[in-house]
Amino acid sequence: MIRIQQIGALKNALNKERASNKSIGFVPTMGALHEGHLELIRKAVSENDICICSIFVNPIQFNNKEDLEKYPRDLQSDCDKLQKAGCQMVFIPEVSEMYPEPDLAQFDFGQLDKILEGEFRPGHFNGVAIVVKKLFEIVRPDYAYFGEKDFQQLAIINRLVEMEKIPVQIIPCPTIRENDGLAMSSRNMRLTKKERAIAPQIYRSLISIKQSFNGENAAEIIQKTIQNLSKIEGLKVEYLTIVNNKTLLPFDPQNTIKDDSVALIAAFLGNVRLIDNIKLD
Ligand code: PAJ
Repeated sequence: MIRIQQIGALKNALNKERASNKSIGFVPTMGALHEGHLELIRKAVSENDICICSIFVNPIQFNNKEDLEKYPRDLQSDCDKLQKAGCQMVFIPEVSEMYPEPDLAQFDFGQLDKILEGEFRPGHFNGVAIVVKKLFEIVRPDYAYFGEKDFQQLAIINRLVEMEKIPVQIIPCPTIRENDGLAMSSRNMRLTKKERAIAPQIYRSLISIKQSFNGENAAEIIQKTIQNLSKIEGLKVEYLTIVNNKTLLPFDPQNTIKDDSVALIAAFLGNVRLIDNIKLD
């Protein structure tokens, strides 16, 4: 696997591959790779001639300084995992390489980046959009792979590609979970033993929503589930909602059928913030 830090060197390497008509699959990440990331990599490897992964902890998408500072980093172990998964190239730029000067672009996603994660993490999706657009311009992939774990991020990326007419096909990939249902996340390693034991309750509550949702009772079951979760010591729900899977606006039986809806949750376990979701089809 080739490791590249400079944008110019990466463009040259990819141009060579493109010249021999090779398809390029791209997986952007922030590192601390786990099986969720590696499934995206394996899919990109199996569907393309060249798989390239980026590892870049993007400072401008963090609205919490402590979260940025505590973000886990382990480059050597990440590279070993990528190599094992069959990835051919990894791009590991410094912050100064990606942002020689501040990028002040402002995207207008309408409601899409103001609600849910956007409400609690202002500026987050603008920072994600800036870095993903930049990475797409550098890598020019045919296909780019994103996890449904970050459901709203995926919706934003789809909107970004549409708005900016970026010639890439976005491939959504299902959420990979631990055996007990907890969605894999780089932040899980910050959970204490006690918090880790509670964490699967988040996904369990989503399953129970899926089981009882009949296309009409959204408000009741959300209220009941929040009530149940609030009884768990150490767990604090930030939001739990059922939304339309395209607009991410609250479920409205006039506009959305059950099969087009998704339940989304964000919750704190101690000071670790976890998100998860389940499709209600
Ligand atoms: P990061 O959190 O490292 O995630 C990289 C990709 O892995 C994202 O597409 C994310 O949805 C996916 N992913 C994470 N956990 C997953 C899981 N359990 N199952 C399936 N896919 C999973 O998301 C980002 O980085 C950044 O915002 C980024 C897009 C790289 C821009 O900086």
